[in-house]
Amino acid sequence: MKASLEWQIACGADEAILDAPVDRTALPQAVRPPRRAPAQDAAPETDVVDIARSAATAAVDLVSLRAAMEAYEHCDLKRAAKQLVFSDGNANARVMIIGEAPGRDEDIEGRPFVGRAGQLLDLMFSHIGLFRTESDRERALYIANVLPWRPPQNRDPKPEEMKMMLPFLERHVELVNPDLIVAMGNHACLALLGQRGITRLRGNWKKALGKPTLPMFHPAYLLRTPEAKRETWADLLSLKDRLRK
Ligand code: URA
Repeated sequence: MKASLEWQIACGADEAILDAPVDRTALPQAVRPPRRAPAQDAAPETDVVDIARSAATAAVDLVSLRAAMEAYEHCDLKRAAKQLVFSDGNANARVMIIGEAPGRDEDIEGRPFVGRAGQLLDLMFSHIGLFRTESDRERALYIANVLPWRPPQNRDPKPEEMKMMLPFLERHVELVNPDLIVAMGNHACLALLGQRGITRLRGNWKKALGKPTLPMFHPAYLLRTPEAKRETWADLLSLKDRLRK
C-alpha cells in the first residue's frame, strides 16, 4: 500500500480530489462514473470531403494533383494499398477513360488497367484506333480511376470512399480537359453521373463534369460475360463517330 502511494506521488498524483477515498473497483457497474461518449472527447469532426476539395482545387497541374493525392491521409484504402495509382496514357488525349479502382496488378505496377481487364481495354480501343501509348492526341487515350488506391481483396468501393475522392477526380478531369469521357462500369457511372444500372445506361451519351460522357460495360464484366461484347462494339463505334464531330 505504501509503495503504491509512493508510486502515485512520484507520478504527480499527490492531492486528494474527494473528501473521502473511493474504492472504485468495489462499485457496482451502474454507479461507475459514466464513460464519456467518444464524440464529446473527439475534436470537432473534420470534413474529409472539404479537405479533399481544398487540396484538389489548389493543384495547378497534374504533378501537383498527384502530390496532393499522395498527401491526403483520410482514405483508409491508402494504408492497405502498396501505392497510389494515378493515371496512364497521354494527358492531351481527346478521350479520358475513367474506371473504378486499381486491382492487384495495378497496385503492384502503379498504373491503371494493366491486368487482364486492362489488356482487353487496350484491345477494344485499338479497334477504333485509340491507344494509351499514342502521342497524337487524336489517337490517344488517357486513363484514370475513381479511386486511386486498391480496395482490399478488390471489394467494391464504399460510397464514402468515392465521395471523399471525388474532388480529386473532378480536378483531374478539369486539368486534363478531355473532349469526351468514357465511364467504365457501374462505379464510374455512380461517381460521375450519380446513376447506377450499367445495362440500361451503357451506350447512352450523358453529360458529366461538363463533358459528353459515354457509359460502357467494364472490361472485367466483358471477361465474365463475353456475349456483352456485341453491345460494347456498338458503343465503341458510337465513340468513334462522336470523335469525328
Ligand atoms: N479495373 C478498374 O476499374 N481500374 C483499373 O485500374 C483496373 C481494373
